[in-house]
Amino acid sequence: MSIPDQSTQIQLVARPEGWPTHENFRTVVVDLPDLGPDEVRVVNDYVSVDPYMRGRMNDVKSYIAPFALDATMDGGAVGHVVASTSDTVPVGAVVSHNQGWRDVAQGPAARFRVVEEAPGLPRSALLGILGMTGLTAYVGLGEIARLSMGDTVFVSGAAGAVGTAVGQIARRKGAARVIGSAGSAEKVALLTERYGFDAAINYKDGPIREQLAEVVGEDGVDVYFDNVGGDHLEAALDVMNRFGRVAVCGAIAGYNDTDRTPGPDNLMNIVSRSLTLRGFTLGDHFSAQPAFEADMRRWVAEGRIVHDETVVEGIDHAVDAFLSMLEGGNTGKMVVKTS
Ligand SMILES: NC(=O)c1ccc[n+]([C@@H]2O[C@H](COP(=O)([O-])OP(=O)(O)OC[C@H]3O[C@@H](n4cnc5c(N)ncnc54)[C@H](OP(=O)(O)O)[C@@H]3O)[C@@H](O)[C@H]2O)c1
Repeated sequence: MSIPDQSTQIQLVARPEGWPTHENFRTVVVDLPDLGPDEVRVVNDYVSVDPYMRGRMNDVKSYIAPFALDATMDGGAVGHVVASTSDTVPVGAVVSHNQGWRDVAQGPAARFRVVEEAPGLPRSALLGILGMTGLTAYVGLGEIARLSMGDTVFVSGAAGAVGTAVGQIARRKGAARVIGSAGSAEKVALLTERYGFDAAINYKDGPIREQLAEVVGEDGVDVYFDNVGGDHLEAALDVMNRFGRVAVCGAIAGYNDTDRTPGPDNLMNIVSRSLTLRGFTLGDHFSAQPAFEADMRRWVAEGRIVHDETVVEGIDHAVDAFLSMLEGGNTGKMVVKTS
């Protein structure tokens, strides 16, 4: 097969106010230069679209720099090397890297990590259950929430990439009861029937605060894994047990807000119940990767953790995939298949 010498790439051209639209982006085709010393050219098989990318579209100081305007965006991707001047990253190697939002990537070999594929799994799993979202779930439950045997766990955004991993890891690590919330009847059914949750709530059926209190009952919640923020965090704070722990992973309910969201009205519960709320970003926790990979590869191989993904075909549809993910169009990891 011939080696591509062009790359189709997605650029941010205007910062979204509220919900992004196609007008915020453009597609360009770039001629690739010849490889320099110790460089590789990679055909991306899958690129990742993730909620945190919405934050990078704003021009604000954060833990990661905003996307530049009129430049190709970056993000997680997995692909295979088609040309190389590197001794360590040869042609044919499967690599994960951060040059997403394009179908062909190129650069110094040191920016591409050679990865081992998992038998029987699509390469896209390296972006999801075996990749960053799986690791986020693992770190959030372990290092951040300090999950213990017998805990009751509540996970919001439970049918997404991180959420499906959280529910199942909690079970593997000895949680007594796992409760999840998601935004459709189909997703709620999957939580109990496929991912092993004990109970699931459709937050669109009524106020999450009332629904969660009813499902939790007298037992309370020891660990809340927060993917959603807003009303879900408020609902969880109502039902936390003494010395409960909250892993604050994300707050997707507010990512497209144009006004400031009011805070929870029950923050005093943090004091009266001796709660710990701890936020984290994965970049500070890559030291957990070897333990995560050993556990997760084993669990997946043994069929003790299942995973799903929603695949959108073609780099030209990457923006569609991103917008759909923000609206809940995915179950498990949303990925774009680019080769
Ligand atoms: N801290 C970190 O290092 C880190 C790393 C990765 C991800 N995260 C965070 O983890 C969370 C999940 O990320 P992910 O990659 O796994 O995405 P995901 O859950 O696969 O996809 C996003 C999901 O959010 C849900 N959602 C959208 N708007 C919502 C709303 N207003 N209320 C409740 N749910 C809403 C949708 O599901 P429904 O159909 O159920 O609404 C959608 O499918 C995000 O908050 C993300 O920012 C943090």
